[in-house]
Amino acid sequence: MDQVILAVAGKGGVGKTSIAAMAVAQLIRDHPEAKILAIDADPAVGLETALGITHRCTVDDIRKQIVAAGQADPEKKQAIALLGESRYRILDAMVEEDRFAFLAIGRPEAAGCYCSVNACLRAVISACSAGFDYVVIDGEAGVEQINRRVMEKVTHLLLVTDPSRKGTQVVKTVKQVADELTMYETCGAVVNRMNDEQLLGLIDLGDIPLLTCIPDDQVLALSDVKGGSVLELPEDGILASGVRRALYAMGIN
Ligand SMILES: Nc1ncnc2c1ncn2[C@@H]1O[C@H](COP(=O)(O)OP(=O)(O)O)[C@@H](O)[C@H]1O
Ligand SMILES: [Mg+2]
Repeated sequence: MDQVILAVAGKGGVGKTSIAAMAVAQLIRDHPEAKILAIDADPAVGLETALGITHRCTVDDIRKQIVAAGQADPEKKQAIALLGESRYRILDAMVEEDRFAFLAIGRPEAAGCYCSVNACLRAVISACSAGFDYVVIDGEAGVEQINRRVMEKVTHLLLVTDPSRKGTQVVKTVKQVADELTMYETCGAVVNRMNDEQLLGLIDLGDIPLLTCIPDDQVLALSDVKGGSVLELPEDGILASGVRRALYAMGIN
């Protein structure tokens, strides 16, 4: 199979991080030999907790090292260009878990920082993704990263919404912008936390294909309270089964 770059997008709080982490778990199970990279692209972080990772270096840390070493003027675009070239440094920063590599984009201070988190992320995706069979990106809420062409190279766009109108409006907007600015091959929506299938007829996803619905998962809720990892959730649980259906519906199997 060709390389898969799967990005998870949607409104805040709808389940993107849980679903991205479970997608990593599912890929590990289905493809134990594959090279898998998980990227936390949300400055609000969260994927590392969901994946049970405790220590990590961020892309922003690497950018700071480049600037501190006098190799780039922080106010200029240079830092981003160097970041794109420092593939080896970025690979170093990746936490090598047993079964997948992990990279967090970090949280650059807004003031005086030319290199926005999104420019960093775009550089990293082009510099590093080539060495992996599967890249799973847990995106920032909303449409900004699509707008800034961070997700240009994404092959599979997984849009997550809850049953609310606000949620579906965000995925529709993301899809519209992605149609214009990215070259994705496949896209589809997951309606998460959907407990009443009768509501499905009322949900307007526009032209986005519905991949599947996922009901509330009490085992996930309990694990989340304890700060547990999604990787430890049961394989046949509600979230795991739902994410498997979604990936298969997108042709990732
Ligand atoms: N299907 C589900 N069942 C129960 N809780 C869920 C479900 N999906 C997400 N959650 C919970 O909702 C909260 C937000 O989920 P999260 O994955 O962090 O969303 P996002 O990344 O979109 O902000 C978390 O506490 C998560 O455990
Ligand atoms: Mg999140």
